[in-house]
Amino acid sequence: MADAVVTPWDVSGDVDYDKLIKEFGTKSLSDELLARLQKHTKDLHFMLRRKVFFSHRDLDWLLSKQEKGEQFVLYTGRGPSGHTHVGHMLPWILTKWLQDKFDTELYFQLTDDEKFLNSDKLSMEDTHNFAYENALDIIATGFNPKKTFIFSNQDYAKTMYNIALKVAKLTTFSTAKGVFGFNNSTNIGMTFFPAIQAAPCFLPTELKGKKTPVLIPAAIDQDPYWRITRDVADRLGYYKPAALHGRFLPGLQGPNSKMSASKPDSAIFTVDAPEVARKKIMKSFSGGRQTLKEHKEKGGDPDVDTSCQYLFQMFEEDDDKVTEVFRQFRAGDLTSGDVKGMLADKVEAFLKQHQKKREQAKKNLDKFLVKD
Ligand code: TYM
Repeated sequence: MADAVVTPWDVSGDVDYDKLIKEFGTKSLSDELLARLQKHTKDLHFMLRRKVFFSHRDLDWLLSKQEKGEQFVLYTGRGPSGHTHVGHMLPWILTKWLQDKFDTELYFQLTDDEKFLNSDKLSMEDTHNFAYENALDIIATGFNPKKTFIFSNQDYAKTMYNIALKVAKLTTFSTAKGVFGFNNSTNIGMTFFPAIQAAPCFLPTELKGKKTPVLIPAAIDQDPYWRITRDVADRLGYYKPAALHGRFLPGLQGPNSKMSASKPDSAIFTVDAPEVARKKIMKSFSGGRQTLKEHKEKGGDPDVDTSCQYLFQMFEEDDDKVTEVFRQFRAGDLTSGDVKGMLADKVEAFLKQHQKKREQAKKNLDKFLVKD
């Protein structure tokens, strides 16, 4: 198996999450810490219970601040290089839950600048347009309009620029090279960009005029940004951002496959017609056996089965149901077709509802978007 690569721009190979915790220097999300979180939230989201979010930085510190009356805010984002797929939405679902539980603000960055800089094909207008398309999915997720601030970097650069300058000045090229793998052919826009993704970590402090704790829910690919941000925070007089790290929802072609906007069959996009999504699921990678007879005799492997994993990570909230699906699939009592059908029903229902809300969101963009 190829060695895993996990950077903000490339996730490939067989990702070993325990190894990533060591390599990145993060902490695993322990049961004790989850119990402490639960004191605030009463219940625990299934993505936390199941350790879909498995690692963190300073969540314990953040809760201490909260307990002392320092309200934290949330920060997350999206790089608008195409339409949103369900993997992008996975962290947003947990983010919404956190916003509801803590009744807190959310700062949502759309990095249309990054996706322009990092693409051979997309123009500045393309990524700016996708930022607005993606904003519809963000709004449709159900965030609180009074407490959610969505911004495209192209439209909000002035506010962030001075903060980004401070971060950039304290971050050497040598550090950035080490963290992001930049080399001599990387364009200089990209070498500056991490300072722009760092800026919203400090923006709430600037806007409120007081040091404000920030929690960032995202998949673990974004952690390199928080590393350089945390490095400079103290020296700039800000709190270090805290982070929650999620696993990756696999592409439809199997455990180590990637979702890609250029490969429509690799992922379910939020704009896919529900029946198209069903077809994609029915063709997706299965952890079942070659023949039905063999499957009934030997059973399948839910740990690599796309539909089982999608149910576990995102689409089936009921723990008992997930456990039962895994058990029956392993025993050969449920076939690949059965599990695919179950997932397809869930995803069709999700898409129908999401697309209705996405349509309504077009009228509400002004309530969420901030510009300068
Ligand atoms: P982007 O657009 O690559 O990803 C958006 C969010 O989705 C997460 N993610 C996934 N989660 C689960 N399964 C997957 N297969 C999957 N693929 C992507 C990402 O971790 C991210 O949370 N540079 C960023 C945009 C950004 C940002 C942020 C993200 C700016 N500020 C703060 C998170 C937090 C990007 O291109 O994300």
